[in-house]
Amino acid sequence: MRTQIGIVGAGPAGLLLSHLLHLQGIESVVLERRSRKYIEERVRAGVLEQGTVDLLIASGLGARLEREALIHHGIEIRFNRRGHRIDLYELTGGKAITVYAQHEVIKDLVAARLAAGGKIIFDASDVTVHGFDGGNPSIRFRAAGRDEELHCDYIAGCDGFHGVCRPSIPPGVLTEYDHEYPFGWLGILAYAPPSSNELIYCHSERGFALFSMRTPEISRLYIQVPNEADIADWPDARIWSELHARAAIDGDWKLTEGEIFQKNIAGLRSYVCEPMQFGNLFLAGDAAHIVPATGAKGLNLAVADVRVLSQAFAEFYASGKTSLLENYSETCLRRVWKAQRFSWWMTTTLHRFDAHSPFDRRRQLADLDYLTGSRAAMTSLAENYVGLEWD
Ligand code: APR
Ligand code: PHB
Repeated sequence: MRTQIGIVGAGPAGLLLSHLLHLQGIESVVLERRSRKYIEERVRAGVLEQGTVDLLIASGLGARLEREALIHHGIEIRFNRRGHRIDLYELTGGKAITVYAQHEVIKDLVAARLAAGGKIIFDASDVTVHGFDGGNPSIRFRAAGRDEELHCDYIAGCDGFHGVCRPSIPPGVLTEYDHEYPFGWLGILAYAPPSSNELIYCHSERGFALFSMRTPEISRLYIQVPNEADIADWPDARIWSELHARAAIDGDWKLTEGEIFQKNIAGLRSYVCEPMQFGNLFLAGDAAHIVPATGAKGLNLAVADVRVLSQAFAEFYASGKTSLLENYSETCLRRVWKAQRFSWWMTTTLHRFDAHSPFDRRRQLADLDYLTGSRAAMTSLAENYVGLEWD
């Protein structure tokens, strides 16, 4: 088998890259270790930046998104038993965020690729990448009971944090920056109409909570839990009681409960590898960096990477020039580090750290009081939250 770009991973990064390349007349094959059903149902994040939405619509992926997604002009920050709205729309001159589950983006991308005759090989096992240090890249894998080899000009490693591409780069090439947090998030999906029209980020003595949604009938809610927490210790009643306690305000706000139909615990981590490229292998999305979910940046960074990468491949195939490819890592890392800073700041400002002293707790509350009282500080949050301009 032969193609121009061999893509490992059918997450948002790999699928969108394949789609954007197709629009430029560039061929690719996507190899995914899971089934189509698995990737189309996997519960992930759900907040799209303005630039992400604009790109999806401009590249012909907006039909269902524009019908079904929820557009939000603000978010609420809650602390000290009071809520404070941040008007994203007004503070950013008309930008918003869009709530649309990641697996819905995946469904739209898979449908678009298949409709255009694109090749996605699901259930590909034993994927290994070769020859990217010299000029002869290939990807070996097993599918439908046969060993296969895909030859290509370039390999795009879009295989997420636990993928095979990043660890295939020889030792000593990459510098890794890693930061773990002493807590994770327990997330639920519930058949309960959202208790607010907008997302609520809650700081509380008992720890962080987030009230998000998927549709007007389905809430997506999170609570901070210790790293060692076991989902078995969190029956539904305990989760609701914690959500009530962490969101409590003076005034008449009411949390609507409903049947919980999905529950999971996920860790929070900040990670970057530099550079995001070696030879003919380019890393994009979670394969190269992870952000804690607090800033809602993971999916959006993956989109930003493949936007840059598709333009670089387009330049190469149109003119033979490699300047955009050579600058790929540097271009992406500037945005990545700003998203890292923002996600780390949101995380450290809103969560409870057991190691914090009373001084640290007071300083944290002062940070929130300053944020919600200063137009300058709110503007800074807003422009990061809706997404910084593309480079
Ligand atoms: N071979 C083939 N496919 C693989 C392999 C492998 N060895 N390892 C991982 N994959 C696949 C995974 O099954 C997954 O479908 O690569 C895909 C990677 O997708 P994501 O993890 O979604 O990563 P990415 O496309 O970079 O998107 C980043 O996803 O992690 C979430 O919330 C995060 O929003 C962020 C976004
Ligand atoms: C979500 O809806 O899943 C969500 C929203 C905001 C975040 C993280 C996750 O910061």
